Amino acid sequence: MTSTGFTKHAQDGKARSGVIQTPRGDIRTPAFMPVGTAATVKAMMPESVASTGADILLGNTYHLMLRPTAERVAALGGLHKFMNWDRPILTDSGGFQVMSLAGLRKLTERGVTFKSHIDGSKHEITPERSMEIQELLGSDIVMCFDECPALPADCDRIAESMRLSMRWAKRSREAFGDRPGHMLFGIQQGGLEQDFRQESAEALREIGFDGYAVGGLAVGEGQQAMFSTLDFATDMLPEDKPRYLMGVGKPDDIVGAVARGIDMMDCVLPSRSGRTGQVFTRMGVLNIKNARHMDDPRPLDENCSCPACQNYSRAYLHHVFRSQEIISSMLLTWHNLQYYQDIMAGMREAIAAGRFTQWQADFHAGREQGDI
Ligand code: GUN
Ligand code: ZN
Repeated sequence: MTSTGFTKHAQDGKARSGVIQTPRGDIRTPAFMPVGTAATVKAMMPESVASTGADILLGNTYHLMLRPTAERVAALGGLHKFMNWDRPILTDSGGFQVMSLAGLRKLTERGVTFKSHIDGSKHEITPERSMEIQELLGSDIVMCFDECPALPADCDRIAESMRLSMRWAKRSREAFGDRPGHMLFGIQQGGLEQDFRQESAEALREIGFDGYAVGGLAVGEGQQAMFSTLDFATDMLPEDKPRYLMGVGKPDDIVGAVARGIDMMDCVLPSRSGRTGQVFTRMGVLNIKNARHMDDPRPLDENCSCPACQNYSRAYLHHVFRSQEIISSMLLTWHNLQYYQDIMAGMREAIAAGRFTQWQADFHAGREQGDI
């Protein structure tokens, strides 16, 4: 069996570039993972997602266990075959999604029971069941089963929740066992508190994982608080393993996270925004719904290689968005994902060349031009 691993190629300040090796291919880091919650990156063909430069997708235990079920996906040959994506897939473990999406939840030491947001049926996820589901799906990077309170929460609640997640991390590690070619990532919790983050990092390092995620951020605390937490949180995690910031974020969040030592991220923002008309460009954000685009023959972004920018005007994209044509979601999602991957590629090159500080300055300057 081909082995997995992480090789750091370059470091510039705290920013790192490298490669995560998996039997399904290399993941170049820093990496952005498009979200394919329900076995599809909405409005995109998998080959189009690959063409933007994505090396890995994120899938969700919570959604797939409810529909079409993990057992059905396994019987049909696994998630890669099911959705026609042969590169690596990371799956989230379900706890975080239960807390944000499910109805009527009950949290115990054993796990969480909840009612499906789809049909109200009753389900349970434990660390052991989450590991089983992620194995049935055929996930390449499996996430520990964890729990995370919405911020702001009081200190006791954050500490209690973090300690429960650390006990679940131990059970996740034991249930995962030894699966060559597959990786298991721990998830650091502890809110914005340095001592809780430290306690959590020590618990995870003691158990030992193939990678370490920073969880419990981007849950309403704001960018400044998130960056202040990352300033100490990443340093607590092993140097020689990939570090993954979960659920982040806007382009400037991503750049700031990489500057603080993060190697991987995922977010629904580029794909979801593609469906709501919000467009990320090198010059800043625009909303294609706005009437000022109605007669504009220019592309969204002069410097973008995506089909939306190569073949269509803002006027056309405005028209199909207003007309609720399906191609609007397709083109805007493609553009946003292309832009995110271009940011990642730019950062990887800049880190390798030792000019990440200059790259960051150019990135921020480009977005302040106004009049987009
Ligand atoms: N997605 C965003 N934040 C989190 C988190 O803290 N835990 C998990 N499992 N998924 C997340
Ligand atoms: Zn584009």
